[in-house]
Amino acid sequence: MNFMETLIRKIDKNKIDEKVIAEAGKFLREGKLVAFPTETVYGLGADALKEEAARKTYAAKGRPSDNPLIVHIADYEDLKKIAVNIPPETDMLAAHFWPGPLTMIFEKSDIVPYGTTGGLDTVAVRMPADPVARALIRAAGGFVSAPSANTSGRPSPTTAQHVEEDLNGKIDMILDGGTVDIGLESTILDMTVIPPMILRPGAITTEMFEEVIGPVGVDETLLSDKSTQAPKAPGMKYRHYAPKAKLMIVEGDLREEILAIRQLAYEADRKGHPVGVIATNETLPFYNHGIIKNIGTRENEKTIARNLYSILREFDEENVDTIYSESFAIQGIGTAIMNRLEKAAGHLRIPAKDIVKLQKYRRITFVSGTDSARGPMAAELLRHCDLKQEYVINSRGMVVLFPEPANQKAEAIMKSAQMTLENHSSLQFDGDNIQEDTLILTIDANQKEKILAEYQLSENVYTLNEFIDDNTEIPDPYGKPLTAYGECYEVLDRLIKKLADKLNSLTEEKE
Ligand code: TXA
Ligand code: MG
Repeated sequence: MNFMETLIRKIDKNKIDEKVIAEAGKFLREGKLVAFPTETVYGLGADALKEEAARKTYAAKGRPSDNPLIVHIADYEDLKKIAVNIPPETDMLAAHFWPGPLTMIFEKSDIVPYGTTGGLDTVAVRMPADPVARALIRAAGGFVSAPSANTSGRPSPTTAQHVEEDLNGKIDMILDGGTVDIGLESTILDMTVIPPMILRPGAITTEMFEEVIGPVGVDETLLSDKSTQAPKAPGMKYRHYAPKAKLMIVEGDLREEILAIRQLAYEADRKGHPVGVIATNETLPFYNHGIIKNIGTRENEKTIARNLYSILREFDEENVDTIYSESFAIQGIGTAIMNRLEKAAGHLRIPAKDIVKLQKYRRITFVSGTDSARGPMAAELLRHCDLKQEYVINSRGMVVLFPEPANQKAEAIMKSAQMTLENHSSLQFDGDNIQEDTLILTIDANQKEKILAEYQLSENVYTLNEFIDDNTEIPDPYGKPLTAYGECYEVLDRLIKKLADKLNSLTEEKE
């Protein structure tokens, strides 16, 4: 295809410049391609009644021509010109949801070319709410076919810049009306069956339809990867919205999802694989590995819908080869969000439980007498080990009257091994240190006995020696010269390496 100049015209939907609309409308009437904003995503407009215009649309998008286009109208009376056998519920649905993010499918009239409908005898019709879209449709003569204005296989565009990235040089004009409102394509409702059936979930939800016309059907192929049937909207069979990286959806309850994604991102980082995380406002603080992006707030899932495609595009700019995403409840707009995420992921899902169940411990607390030398040394040594799993590692003492920095000789020894205890401040062991996923390792047997006696614990408390099955005594250097600390370090260093191996063997290798 030849490179053409793509005109870019800014337009303010609250103060529409009629000259720009007239120019764009003229382009469409001449059979040219004009991308324009709608409230859902940007559309790639063409004259819906011209066979040739549809052909150009497919060529610009690189889209298979068996994938039918949606015809956009601005006035309800126009529906009758392109559709026949319009069922009676249509009036009610249009009264509630048009103009808006709803596409309805009807039998087509003769004036709609097969090029536009991908060879089908039905036509998809939508009346968008965006004032720029409406003005343009009228200026173009009333019938504008518009698929999403992305290259086939890329996420749908929610800004004019996204359109430019994909289609600059391939189309005649882009109307830049800023960022869209909804961010996911319209709900598609097939009106040729009884009851009408949802072929693509969107901002108009099942619940909303049911309030207006009673029960509607849902194309079963939409959310599952199990069905062998082809989806009824031809476009839904393609793996579009696809990011460059492998996207995987982690599913479970939110706490498990967080723990699993933390582990997956940690593991990827450890292996030197660049990784991305799709997090929400609420969960953002829990992640610390990989490139983490906030998709929106769970309090208002509309924000998530609005950001989804731009986040996927942003990840395409990052050097990541895997992206892990949290999942969302299949209700309201969440149904559409999950549908698009699942498609972007090519239905790759990971049950969070499978990851989380491999983690017996998530915290490790070393307990010594005063938490000033052996405990903090052990903790710091373990932090420097290559662990398959991320642990919260700390130390406590059985007799700590007030917080103190680490013993200076211990610090000197650690420094000579390129480590430091300079941020350490001793803390008293207390009940808060005991959680289900905490492994408590004492330096001496008497600390263990004391803990067992004071806190009715039967599990997860061991002496370090016992846990790794090694009887080498850990010498107490307190009050002795620097060399004693050095000897203590040597023993600890060896025992902690053994501990790391033991912990790694508890976290089985995945994949
Ligand atoms: O929100 C939207 O609907 C956007 C904006 C631009 O209006 N448009 C959009 O178009 O998403 P597109 O082409 O990306 O998706 C149209 C979907 C495809 O999955 C297609 O297979 C389906 O609608 N479709 C179109 N005509 C159909 C028909 N007659 N029967 C079944 N499915 C149809
Ligand atoms: Mg599309």
